[in-house]
Amino acid sequence: MDNIDTKLSSLGCTLQFWHKKKISLVVGGGIAAYRVLDLIRGLKAQGAEVTVIGTEAATRFVTPLTFHAISGHPFYGDLFHPGEEGGMDHIRLAREADLVIVAPATADLMAKMAHGLANDLATAMILARRGPLLVAPAMNVAMWEHPATQRNVERLKGDGLVFCGPEAGALACGEEGMGRLAGVDTILEAARRCLEDKTLAGKHFLLTAGPTREELDPVRYLSNHSSGKMGWAIAQAALRAGAQVTLVHGPVHLPPLWGAKMVPVTSACDMFAAVMDCWETCQPSRSLDAIILTAAVADFRPVVRSSEKIKKTSSMTPMNIELEANPDILLELGRRHGAMENHQRPILVGFAAETGRAVERGREKLARKPCDLLVVNDLMEEGAGFMVDTNRVTLLDRDGLEETWPLMSKDAVGARLVEAVAARF
Ligand code: C5P
Repeated sequence: MDNIDTKLSSLGCTLQFWHKKKISLVVGGGIAAYRVLDLIRGLKAQGAEVTVIGTEAATRFVTPLTFHAISGHPFYGDLFHPGEEGGMDHIRLAREADLVIVAPATADLMAKMAHGLANDLATAMILARRGPLLVAPAMNVAMWEHPATQRNVERLKGDGLVFCGPEAGALACGEEGMGRLAGVDTILEAARRCLEDKTLAGKHFLLTAGPTREELDPVRYLSNHSSGKMGWAIAQAALRAGAQVTLVHGPVHLPPLWGAKMVPVTSACDMFAAVMDCWETCQPSRSLDAIILTAAVADFRPVVRSSEKIKKTSSMTPMNIELEANPDILLELGRRHGAMENHQRPILVGFAAETGRAVERGREKLARKPCDLLVVNDLMEEGAGFMVDTNRVTLLDRDGLEETWPLMSKDAVGARLVEAVAARF
């Protein structure tokens, strides 16, 4: 399968998820209203049907005609429009939607929502809503930080509404700070999570991902080609299933995962410390259910890190760098778990990246490394391993399980691995 096919297969899963999902999008009257045009396009591109309901103020920023043209459905703004339902648009729009998204949610709109006002079509529809409702606020930083707004946000969260953003950055008013509408991809992911089954609600996953860097001097380091994509995909699948996720990761070029606790680290020693810190924090309450170690941790680090750039020597003799072993996170966790009752131990999953005879070497690794499941992949196989968007893996366990999955997108491998872990709870 080449890269295009992979992208299409991954897109296929996404399209299947969104196919004919009905979204009622409530647009508030803030300058960020123009950015929801991209959100509408994003939702439509994935197969969802979007109906826009706007406040009076929203139509001052973007015209009803534009919303109609981009969404492909008539715009709704008038509570007293007789329409086809004899003025019952707000009830139908609230009832028929799989998800209601409020974006941008202005301070005014959230204040009305928090107090149950319903004096226009948008607020009446929100009050009539019984199912999931996602709120993406956007406003000036002072308005966002005002105690009145924060009170309203807390009240709405207490009512069960899901919030996405705002984000920090440059604001339309020229100020910097919290108040930017979340990015389209973030809102799309948040929307998807509102609709997924929460089969892992209450479970906590700790993951490691990406490479580590072992510094030689302020300029150079030893590392590997790990992109972090596999770990990201597993973390995303766990988040979609409603789990709490802590993601300890080395230096990668991937955006933070919405809803995860991101713990960036650099070296293997940093990663070891961050994982043990999380493990020890969770230990008293037994609040860690699965640990999945996808990181390609450097096995060695330079014994000495030079504080200045190491200079080239004039002689032609080879340069020797003395290395020492890094701590093994998986071994240490296995040791700690060995002292615990079976039912109290989090499920421990290791990864093995091999170059040839992968399954055989995986079995040897399972004998040495005390994990419950080992995911083996062969870096020499086309479409597997580092950097690519696909993987072909074999799942091994201590009872002799040997399950080879076909070449799939890393997203699909992540979802299937999370299911395999969940089946062991
Ligand atoms: O022994 P090897 O490095 O091949 O084992 C791979 C597995 O062990 C992976 O799950 C990796 O994240 C983990 N590992 C670790 N700490 C290390 C080296 C590897 O947790 N120092």
